[in-house]
Amino acid sequence: MTQNLENQSSPQKTVRLLRPSVIVLCGPAACGKSTFAARHFRPTQIISSDQARALVCDDERDQRFQTQAFALVHFLIEQRLELNRLCVVDSTALTPAARKNLLDLARTFQVPCVVFLFAVPLEKCLERDAGRERTVGRAVIERQHQLFEQAAATIRQEGFDQVVEIPDAEMEQVKIEIVFRPPARKPVVPARPEPRPNVARPSPPAVARRAPGPAVVRPVPAAPAPAPAPRPPQVQSPVPAPASQGATPAASAPEVSGAAPPSPAGPGPGSSES
Ligand SMILES: Nc1ncnc2c1ncn2[C@@H]1O[C@H](COP(=O)(O)OP(=O)(O)OP(=O)(O)O)[C@@H](O)[C@H]1O
Ligand SMILES: [Mg+2]
Repeated sequence: MTQNLENQSSPQKTVRLLRPSVIVLCGPAACGKSTFAARHFRPTQIISSDQARALVCDDERDQRFQTQAFALVHFLIEQRLELNRLCVVDSTALTPAARKNLLDLARTFQVPCVVFLFAVPLEKCLERDAGRERTVGRAVIERQHQLFEQAAATIRQEGFDQVVEIPDAEMEQVKIEIVFRPPARKPVVPARPEPRPNVARPSPPAVARRAPGPAVVRPVPAAPAPAPAPRPPQVQSPVPAPASQGATPAASAPEVSGAAPPSPAGPGPGSSES
């Protein structure tokens, strides 16, 4: 199924996605994938190959550690899909092999796999690259743009459940709706540990194991009441406190873009998460 946003007459372009699913962002460097993802999804829903590279080798640009970075990307996708979470994969996804790996993961977990194609002209990518702090340069963008055009020509035969084309002019009008649809399999919810009866504190490591028998309840001396913490001296801060603390970019993310509280079971089939 292909959604071409250019063909829709409404000024706001709504894309409906299912949770759980794998959303693959596909586009050349500097086309705006990460900006788009940050605008429409929660930070925790985005699995970024740049961040994975940074996590494994401290440098998001170091291409020598692709294997390790993508192992981490795939591991995170697996963990999240087990819990019925949305996975937005922020990488270029320009090779059929990279896309097939993501499709295979989605198939394994029996969830939809959707690809977003960022159809941004080469000149605009070059312009955006030049205007950002971390530039990748003309040669990389030209090569990736060619790969993108090849991908765009054949991607509909690759088995994605939905191909969403996002022309550059439409990027600002896109609205994402996320709908929970439970997959055929059950999510893995870890069991709560059994409460330990009559044990006030963890016992020291046992030297020798006792044969199983009736529980022996030993009286445990009451812990002394904690001494009151000394009050810090009242110091007048020379810097006025900000009016609102704790605000994060995520707090201002649009509600419709997956801002509902995550739940393994979700609100129910077909219900909107907006
Ligand atoms: N719709 C847009 N209009 C104008 N500028 C944009 C738009 N989207 C992104 N940009 C700017 O373009 C630059 C590149 O965007 P971004 O980093 O999101 O690209 P990217 O596709 O994630 O690149 P990479 O593959 O290298 O990670 C940024 O400086 C960003 O602010
Ligand atoms: Mg990016």
